[in-house]
Amino acid sequence: MDYRFSVLTVSDRRSKNESEDLSGKKIIEIMEKLNYKLINYKVVPDEEDDIFNTLNVWCNEDKSDLILTTGGTGFSKRDVTPEATLRVIEKNCPGISEAMRRKSMEKTPYAMLSRQVAGICKNTLIINLPGSVKAVEENIEVVVPILFHAIDLIRDDKEKSQDHKFKTKDS
Ligand code: MTE
Repeated sequence: MDYRFSVLTVSDRRSKNESEDLSGKKIIEIMEKLNYKLINYKVVPDEEDDIFNTLNVWCNEDKSDLILTTGGTGFSKRDVTPEATLRVIEKNCPGISEAMRRKSMEKTPYAMLSRQVAGICKNTLIINLPGSVKAVEENIEVVVPILFHAIDLIRDDKEKSQDHKFKTKDS
């Protein structure tokens, strides 16, 4: 079965086409190289309801295995991606966001300024990433080794989950 992912870019400027969505495109490039199949891609402004509604539809109707968001995780007034994500998820997965921040802080202390969260809504894992291309690359590389196994567990696919766990155990 395919591993299906969706990308939600959260940015006022990019939603108005005032700048190019380089971080969303970077996520797609990285994940497609890993053979994940893109099923949704959208750019929305930093509005909590827009983010929430999109995540909600993608989890409940379009059934992504994985949603990666980029942007809106910082400290400014318009940054509300974590709030929208927390509204939609049923289970919090703090290990994922903790690991991304911890590893990122080896690269830059500004990693402390990302309030990114991760969690599960129905059968979909949602992970927030910060908004720059550099931050996307540095954060994604932290979670890639556990993603197949995480999705297998959410799907309750016991056979594949053991296989992926074995393959990624020492990586
Ligand atoms: N994490 C990594 N790995 N690399 C980075 O360059 N930038 C930080 C942080 N996380 C960064 C990072 C900065 S400068 C900010 S302000 C926060 O992510 C929030 O970014 P966002 O508001 O674009 O989501």
